[in-house]
Amino acid sequence: MSSTITLQDKEFVPFISEQEITEKIKTLATQLAKDYDGKKPLFIAILNGSFMFAAALFKELAIEAEISFIKLASYKGTKSTGHVITAIGLDTDITDRHVIILEDIIDTGKTLHSFLPQLYNQHPASLKIAVLLDKPEPRKFDVPVHYVCFTIPNKFVLGFGLDFDGFGRNIKEIYKLKEDE
Ligand code: XMP
Ligand code: MG
Repeated sequence: MSSTITLQDKEFVPFISEQEITEKIKTLATQLAKDYDGKKPLFIAILNGSFMFAAALFKELAIEAEISFIKLASYKGTKSTGHVITAIGLDTDITDRHVIILEDIIDTGKTLHSFLPQLYNQHPASLKIAVLLDKPEPRKFDVPVHYVCFTIPNKFVLGFGLDFDGFGRNIKEIYKLKEDE
């Protein structure tokens, strides 16, 4: 793993190696294959951050499964509707399907907390959440997280799909912000 990298004048230091990520994802794929064998689950990966996690996990999955990618757009609604999240690209009917959401990282929980009711409304057979990184410390909104690769402290991270101001997604490992140490 290379040492410090600099992006937009911020210094990042190595945090989780490529090998550790690969191993955890393989373990998760094995667990999911066991839990969902015969259920033909539908994975829904949330773009942009989860594209690399989703690809790495799906390659390792040895059962029949589907995957679909969506983007969440967030905007401020009226006083009564508050924070509104709409899904772009959710074109698969999830009624009676076993659904697993793939997300890169859960932080405050706001994004998924606002979006999950829209999925429950379609009456999936089951709905679970799998994340690459869980940051429990800053959690403000309740989100049920069922599968976690890494539980991490409250530090800003990038790499393996995660970005800082749009950059850094192509880094193979996960780095953390140095000033956060
Ligand atoms: P919430 O707070 O809604 O946030 O759970 C989830 C989204 O926030 C972004 N996020 C990060 N992105 N490094 C990143 O590159 C981080 O440390 C980080 N923390 C939160 C991310 O887009 C995630 O989907
Ligand atoms: Mg994201």
